[in-house]
Amino acid sequence: MKTWNVAVLGATGAVGQQMLKVLSERNIPLGTVKALASASSAGKKVYCGEREIIVEETREDSFKNMDFVLGAVSNAMAQKFRPAIVKSGAVFIDNSSAFRLDADVPLVIPQINGEDAFKHNGVIANPNCSTIVTLMAISGIARIAVIQEMVACTYQAVSGAGREGIVELETQMRQEYNGEEKTHSVFPCQILSNAIPFIGSELDNDYTTEEMKMQNEGRKIMHLPELKVCCTCVRIPVIRSHSISVQLKLDKDVSLDDVKSAIKNAPGCVLAEDIDGRDYPTPLDVSDQDLVYVGRVRRDLINGDRGVCLWCCGDQIRKGAATNAVEILELLIK
Ligand SMILES: NC(=O)c1ccc[n+]([C@@H]2O[C@H](COP(=O)([O-])OP(=O)(O)OC[C@H]3O[C@@H](n4cnc5c(N)ncnc54)[C@H](OP(=O)(O)O)[C@@H]3O)[C@@H](O)[C@H]2O)c1
Repeated sequence: MKTWNVAVLGATGAVGQQMLKVLSERNIPLGTVKALASASSAGKKVYCGEREIIVEETREDSFKNMDFVLGAVSNAMAQKFRPAIVKSGAVFIDNSSAFRLDADVPLVIPQINGEDAFKHNGVIANPNCSTIVTLMAISGIARIAVIQEMVACTYQAVSGAGREGIVELETQMRQEYNGEEKTHSVFPCQILSNAIPFIGSELDNDYTTEEMKMQNEGRKIMHLPELKVCCTCVRIPVIRSHSISVQLKLDKDVSLDDVKSAIKNAPGCVLAEDIDGRDYPTPLDVSDQDLVYVGRVRRDLINGDRGVCLWCCGDQIRKGAATNAVEILELLIK
């Protein structure tokens, strides 16, 4: 039986660790699984299910004989290693934002635009984590009406900033308990007991890089070049899973019953009807699994019958990153 050799680039990070876990959970006939990271991690042990793997320092020749490289490193590192990966003949499924808007790089959520994955030239990009969760939540609605406008407010977990984001919140919790002064370096100010309405870096239009991903990536994935999105991204002191409040303006009147049925029928989506008596998910409800939960589905009081408001939550390290990348790999080997 054909087996597939897979390298995880950034295998010691928040996303890379999850990629190894997700790879072990699926029915993929795996050959070699390589764990690549920086020189400082070389020799450490990581696990892909029961398989113990010794982490290797990433070098230009690390990708030889690999079929796939799952990227979970910074933009700079993804850019640095792209030529060597492509030269090796492996398909690079990258989680950074370095190539997402490049014309020759498909940007893929398998449940929405899986067919785009097959147009790759060696590189496929995984979308932004909040964008994946949001687009999964509205994918069913997009099948019954054209989405013209979206207002989105995100409530993003600290793990969205990687391993160091989790460490910063946990350190501040300890400092609070010990009565010490809070220190911060990952986030622009204290995140414990706080909400920070600034993620990414500021652009000329006063929005942040993170906020503009929702429109720019949303247009490309949904094949809606005219889609207008107004997004505000907020970091909150939650360890894992992102939540998004969404307001949609559609091209026609749609009943709430039809909207709810569309959400129920959307692959990878769950309409929250009774989670311990609640009709809405929270980050804790959705952590460590792959489905995006949608709740609080209601009429938008501004756009009337053409408007829908909803709340959604998804595990951004799994469906927002690792699982989506592994699902792209699965599409290609089917
Ligand atoms: N966290 C999320 O929820 C999320 C969601 C979607 C997309 N993403 C994107 O996914 C990527 C990874 O994010 P993350 O949150 O997993 O970051 P992270 O926890 O900070 O992990 C970064 C990884 O990069 C590795 N690395 C650093 N320098 C390297 C080098 N010179 N050569 C090879 N590897 C090197 C690190 O290895 P060492 O341990 O050796 O330093 C580590 O494995 C980023 O582009 C991020 O924007 C993250």
